[in-house]
Amino acid sequence: MSEPLIDVRGLRFHYDDGTQALDGVDFRLWPGETVALLGANGSGKTTFVLHLNGLLAGEGEVRVCGVPVQKKTLADVRRRVGLLFQDPDEQLFMPTVIEDVAFGPLNLGLSAEQAEKRALGALTQVGATAAAGRAPYHLSAGEKRRVALAGVLAMEPEILVLDEPTTYLDPPGQRDLVRCLRGLPQAKILVTHDTLFAAALATRAVFFDKGRIVAEGAVREIVERFSWTPGAGTKPAG
Ligand SMILES: Nc1ncnc2c1ncn2[C@@H]1O[C@H](COP(=O)(O)OP(=O)(O)O)[C@@H](O)[C@H]1O
Ligand SMILES: [Mg+2]
Repeated sequence: MSEPLIDVRGLRFHYDDGTQALDGVDFRLWPGETVALLGANGSGKTTFVLHLNGLLAGEGEVRVCGVPVQKKTLADVRRRVGLLFQDPDEQLFMPTVIEDVAFGPLNLGLSAEQAEKRALGALTQVGATAAAGRAPYHLSAGEKRRVALAGVLAMEPEILVLDEPTTYLDPPGQRDLVRCLRGLPQAKILVTHDTLFAAALATRAVFFDKGRIVAEGAVREIVERFSWTPGAGTKPAG
């Protein structure tokens, strides 16, 4: 029997101001899956995914490929879990795109030449090679998103976790992203408000409400069950 890539049990987390953002989350990601995390703003999705590579640490258990996420396992966990932040500006900080994308691989100890090769490969995967020599802060929001994704892919993670990746993308940009993600072999977790995007990619969806997962099933089923369309609020239908 295969083991889950991600295994979360009884996860609780509150921010310093007392906000209980996660209130007992159980979740598993199995090999080959693409799981959509749906739910209203403030339901805890971002807080949840920040636990998957140890950026936040609450009570409960988080295991990645069987390894408990702890201080001493962080380097290992972060190599396996590639996290694309909700805000790409948090991910881009080098003077040029190529340096930005090569930064992670260089940090892994690859030579400059190997790191650049990986970076170019990742930029090709997201269709952004033309931006290689540009400054990240001059890029459009959609371009930033792709370059940030390239930075994640350059690390060759086993699991991809993307927080609201379609934000700022126009419809052609969204289609390109769907095509790009379909071509990637990794198991994926997609936090999204975009039910079409979720339906195009996800093998399963879970629905967050007030820091808990209150339902899981096929994307269509979850969307219908919660009468949940983008911007339509949070209320479960009955
Ligand atoms: N840095 C923070 N400090 C205090 N509360 C926060 C912080 N970040 C998020 N929250 C709160 O935690 C809850 C979950 O937020 P979040 O995980 O961002 O939800 P989502 O990603 O589903 O929109 C919300 O009530 C939000 O206001
Ligand atoms: Mg969020």
